[in-house]
Parts: sequence; structure tokens; C-alpha cells
Amino acid sequence: MMSAALTSTAALLILVAWSWAQVSEYTKRLAPYVPSPPEIVEKMLDAAELKPGEVLYDLGSGDGRVLIAAAKKYKAKAVGIEISPKLVKLAQQRIRQEGLQDQCRVIQGDIREVNLSDADVVVLYLLTSSNELLRPNLERQLKPGARVVSHDFEVRGWRPIRVIEVPAHGRTHQIYVYRVPESRQ
Ligand SMILES: C[S@@+](CC[C@H](N)C(=O)[O-])C[C@H]1O[C@@H](n2cnc3c(N)ncnc32)[C@H](O)[C@@H]1O
Repeated sequence: MMSAALTSTAALLILVAWSWAQVSEYTKRLAPYVPSPPEIVEKMLDAAELKPGEVLYDLGSGDGRVLIAAAKKYKAKAVGIEISPKLVKLAQQRIRQEGLQDQCRVIQGDIREVNLSDADVVVLYLLTSSNELLRPNLERQLKPGARVVSHDFEVRGWRPIRVIEVPAHGRTHQIYVYRVPESRQ
């Protein structure tokens, strides 16, 4: 009798913890999961002039495709931040399959809490409102010369150095390219 009561209490606690995790992931979510097509990933990394050994962050890294491309083609060190544990697992699996564990890392967490001070390139595919939320952190933390590339959504209040239009999958994608000035006034 006692052990049945303990089992149902434990089951209830697990259910509460699981529901809490789902709600917390949902409320922190700044954009839905929509992967960038491979040709857009390539254009973003080209536009960012990513160089071997540089550090790239993908804020909301999905299945890890940007990280893998950055490590494979550009020999960069790539860090992904992703809120969804399922996508973190998927990305880690893909990274392992490619043998890129030394160059790529995925952290499960909220992109609002990451420190970007060692980033040479930051990749965004979020929403304009999410970029607006992140902007103060980017301005505070990014070093001079760092580049930010954003798929489809501008960073309001910043002037892009380039806007590239790429036709893919029946529509035109925009890539906004920004560079942190060498000297800040
Ligand atoms: C549009 S997808 C972009 C995926 C990938 N960067 C790409 O270009 O293929 C946005 C991603 O951001 C993640 N995301 C949303 N809010 C987040 C947050 N607060 N912290 C970390 N990741 C988040 C979503 O789970 C999703 O995988």
C-alpha cells in the first residue's frame, strides 16, 4: 500500500518536472524551428568572411547545420546555443557523424544568457523582435571587427554593410551583414 503511494507520488513529481521543463522551454522560445536551406547557410558564411580558426556562434542552432558548415568548409570553431533539448541532441549526433567534435560544440540554453565576447561571427535566424531583444548584449559584448549575419530579419537600429538577396525554395531570402566598428565612439 505504502509503496504504491510512493510510486504514484514519484510519478506525479516526474510529470510536474517534465511539464515545467516544457513550459519553460516554450516561454523562452524567441523563434520557431525553421532550418536555413544549405545554399543560404553557405552564402551567410561567405558574406561573414569567416576565416580558419575564427569563432562562430549560431544563436538558436537548430540541427547544427550552420556549425557543421562553418567547421567543415571554413575550418572555424563553432558554438551553437539551442533551447530545445531534442535539437541539441540531433545536432550533437550530426556533429559526431561528421567527426567534428573538436571544432563544434552545442550548448543547451537561452541565447539571452550567452557571453559572446570571443565571437568573430554571430549567425542569427530568429525574428526582428528577437534581434531587438538581443541587440543590447551584442552591442555590449562583441569585439571590434566582429560580424553579425542575420537571415531574413534585420537588426533594427544597425546599418548593414551589405544586404544580399538569394532566391531559394520559391522565395527570395535576405541576408543582412553587419560589422562591429573598429572604434566605438
Ligand atoms: C529559425 S531556427 C534557426 C536554426 C538554425 N540557426 C538555422 O539557421 O538553420 C531558430 C532556432 O532558435 C531556437 N531558439 C529559439 N529561442 C531560443 C532561445 N531563447 N535560446 C536558444 N535557442 C532558441 C529554436 O529552437 C530554433 O531551433
